[in-house]
Amino acid sequence: MGVNMRKARISDAQDIYKLIHYYANKRLMLARSLSEIYENIQGFFVIEKNKRIIGCCALHVTWEDLAEIKSLAVSPRYARKGYGTLLLKESEKEARQLGVKRLFALTFIPSFFRKNKFKETTREKLPHKIWIECVRCVYFPNCKEIPLIKKL
Ligand SMILES: CC(C)(COP(=O)(O)OP(=O)(O)OC[C@H]1O[C@@H](n2cnc3c(N)ncnc32)[C@H](O)[C@@H]1OP(=O)(O)O)[C@@H](O)C(=O)NCCC(=O)NCCS
Repeated sequence: MGVNMRKARISDAQDIYKLIHYYANKRLMLARSLSEIYENIQGFFVIEKNKRIIGCCALHVTWEDLAEIKSLAVSPRYARKGYGTLLLKESEKEARQLGVKRLFALTFIPSFFRKNKFKETTREKLPHKIWIECVRCVYFPNCKEIPLIKKL
């Protein structure tokens, strides 16, 4: 059966949660609660293969011209096949349609984002609003995530 990229549905939330937690348990990405996933479900794209969710990515608008790529994950079985890039490109397309001018990500895998034309930046250059989430995070203030940004 083929691969299907689509907007997430409420019924995908549990699968998205499992995918994120697979990596969060290995400390490779930040955990998201089921409640956060439901509240932000409209921002998620998923890739479905054989009726299973094998990838997800969330676009989160932060400010008047700025949005964040969050919770981007591809099931390890399907890694390095271009699915992560597909999810990112679809989220970028939606960001452009919404009028987003700059897209940023905080990541432990900067090479993936660099390959997709993001440039490294510093947290101080991002709006202070993003710190609200940072201070609530279990890794604050010892966060090793690298901020990258792209002009759309
Ligand atoms: C990051 C992630 C989404 C990439 O998904 P993917 O489908 O494997 O990515 P792609 O196949 O589109 O990769 C494109 C390029 O990105 C880079 N890349 C992807 N995964 C990488 C990794 N684990 N380490 C280093 N570079 C990586 C490579 O340059 C790759 O090209 P190549 O395979 O020709 O060398 C996936 O590895 C993942 O789920 N990681 C854990 C969660 C995470 O860190 N998310 C990002 C932060 S929100």
